[in-house]
Amino acid sequence: QAFYAEISSSGEELGELREKVSFCKKCPLGEKRLNAVFGCGSPDADLVFVGEGPGYDEDHIGKPFVGRAGQLLTKIIEAMGQARESVYIANIVKCHAMIDPSNPEKRSNDRPPTLEEMEICRPYLDMQLEIIKPKIIVTLGASSTKGLLNSIESISRIRGSVREYKGIKLIPTFHPAALLRNQDLKKFVWEDMKKVMHYLDTGEI
Ligand code: URA
Repeated sequence: QAFYAEISSSGEELGELREKVSFCKKCPLGEKRLNAVFGCGSPDADLVFVGEGPGYDEDHIGKPFVGRAGQLLTKIIEAMGQARESVYIANIVKCHAMIDPSNPEKRSNDRPPTLEEMEICRPYLDMQLEIIKPKIIVTLGASSTKGLLNSIESISRIRGSVREYKGIKLIPTFHPAALLRNQDLKKFVWEDMKKVMHYLDTGEI
């Protein structure tokens, strides 16, 4: 993948944007984060997953979805017959939103990003999507779904429905962290991922 990233112009463009985001101080989250968590995966992915924002592990490591929820996301991607490196994984907010921002070393200090934080950060995701040009986006959980679709529907109602974001098909589903709390939700996520796979295979939805 390193070789491919070098010869791919979208890889170069993403690299430049990543650099810019690493210095971002557009909102107060930029003051206390340890790492801006830009995204990872193939610069030419057909499928982009969008989560809520980095948690403790991601803030420390600098990569999205590397904690327990991330391991489950990797399993879901693999069950879809894909490698984690062949899709792209990003968040709607690039910096760790903390309940107590004075203490990035504290565990269980995560909070969902506010609508304002998502609005300020969203242009970076938009630029990532413009470079990658995926066929389909999967939003994981209520925050990224609300942030992209501006919808007031609950995630339980909206999941599995086919929406659009900037002309790209979008299917919202439950966040993998929700599946860790409630195993019964797994079947719904799998139903949604089957729709995604069918679209990637056939172009029909
Ligand atoms: N949860 C998210 O929404 N994003 C991450 O990167 C990790 C956990």
